[in-house]
Amino acid sequence: MGRYKLGFFSLLAIFTLGGFVLWCDENENEDATSFGTAPENYAKLCASCHGIHQESFINREWMFGNQKPNLIHSITYGQLDLGMVPFEQLLSTQEISEMADFILARAKEGNHFVPVSGPEINVSEKVNFRVDTIVDGLDIPWGLTFLPNGDLLITERSGKLFRFSNGTLSEPISGLPNVISYGQGGLMDIALHPDYEKNGWIYMTYSKAAPNGKREGSTAVCRAKLDGNTLTQLEDIFVAQPYSSKGQHWGSKLAFDDKGHVFFGVGDRGQRDVNPQTLTNHCGKIHRIMDDGKIPADNPFVHEENAMPSIYSYGHRNPQGTAIHPITGELWESEHGPRGGDEINRIQPGLNYGWPVISYGINYNGTTFTDLTAKDGMEQPIHYYDPSIAPCGMTFVTGNRYKGWENNLLLGSLSFRYLERVELEGNKVVHTEKLLPEIGRVRNVKVSPDGYIYVAIEKPGKILKLYPVN
Ligand code: HEC
Repeated sequence: MGRYKLGFFSLLAIFTLGGFVLWCDENENEDATSFGTAPENYAKLCASCHGIHQESFINREWMFGNQKPNLIHSITYGQLDLGMVPFEQLLSTQEISEMADFILARAKEGNHFVPVSGPEINVSEKVNFRVDTIVDGLDIPWGLTFLPNGDLLITERSGKLFRFSNGTLSEPISGLPNVISYGQGGLMDIALHPDYEKNGWIYMTYSKAAPNGKREGSTAVCRAKLDGNTLTQLEDIFVAQPYSSKGQHWGSKLAFDDKGHVFFGVGDRGQRDVNPQTLTNHCGKIHRIMDDGKIPADNPFVHEENAMPSIYSYGHRNPQGTAIHPITGELWESEHGPRGGDEINRIQPGLNYGWPVISYGINYNGTTFTDLTAKDGMEQPIHYYDPSIAPCGMTFVTGNRYKGWENNLLLGSLSFRYLERVELEGNKVVHTEKLLPEIGRVRNVKVSPDGYIYVAIEKPGKILKLYPVN
């Protein structure tokens, strides 16, 4: 395990020093040589999607079989519809064989990397805080929103919606749309209308099955009202075109401004070269619609022939964070880019954010697709991440409960399993800090109406609440 081990122990040292998390490692006697180059290749090529400790393979229900030849097949040729890239050009047959052994061995060992509870107080640069697990026993929580009475609504990607009320999780709420859950899709975001107390509308995004009965799906936005634990008056207000059999890049995080607009992204659906740069379909775009699904009269492309009128900006890969800046009222977005090209963007109407013509990243299999990082007529990100952190969920810290974090951006990191705090000066990123190292794959982060930060982590799915203590 040569370099992998070294990496792990330096991480161990950092986390222990930081006093955040203690680790147990029962794994000391492993044969250091049996997997050849696999640990190194894994860290470089696979960890960003499957977890640095192979989390996604531990206790796995294998989709394509649990035998070595099954793994070799997936690694060699990929699973293109699901977003698993082929490695036949990058790794030799022997390296792929070692990789399959490496993954199967770890999968069998189970999870040796279970963080045990750390000290009560997390010390960070500006704010000290306590972390409470307030909801447990979830799988992949995706969206969360707060009802005026303090109840929390939580979507699970598998297609369930729960109400967490007075310390207990409800039975799944009934009356949901017909959600198909495959690849990265399923039941996704949830948000309340800004005037919820008056009109009762709750908005959700989900993967909608194509009417042709094939396994094809599309990102849809629906709204409904909640009566007890049942949804009523359910209606779709947006269905992205075209449907696709691909399982990846659905986008879909929701944000409302104070003018009755709903913003959300739709990812490129794994069709990089077809979708993001044309205005004739909905994929690879940020959209702006009215709260009833109508098109705002001043959307940037309403007068352009053949353009989809809901488009607000284009040239996006997979938007996984949308949030309104608390001071400027502008829309900010974070997106999963290619390897080394995740971005934070400030979204302006009608502009082109460049994917895949310009990018700071390369393909996940190590090949390149563009030499350009800048071009006239295409916007630069406010910030990009190399290595990719897989930013998931994004929110501004509103209110003043966390002294020193006011108006900072928070982003979850799926791949590196922490919460990213971003300080801004105007529209510039001036400082970042890693919070909650190794907390788990962070799927979402939200600030409640009463100003507390909530973090959703997955597999096992939990909702955490951060209490400032200084
Ligand atoms: C860009 C993200 C990405 C990268 C990089 C990536 N994978 Fe995957 N991989 C996926 C996705 C998505 C799936 C589909 C199943 C899922 O969602 O976990 C998958 C599936 C697989 C499967 C099949 C699992 C099963 O249940 O049958 C194997 C094996 C696998 N990957 C191995 C690897 C290895 C080894 C590497 C590095 C050499 C790698 N992957 C890199 C995204 C990725």
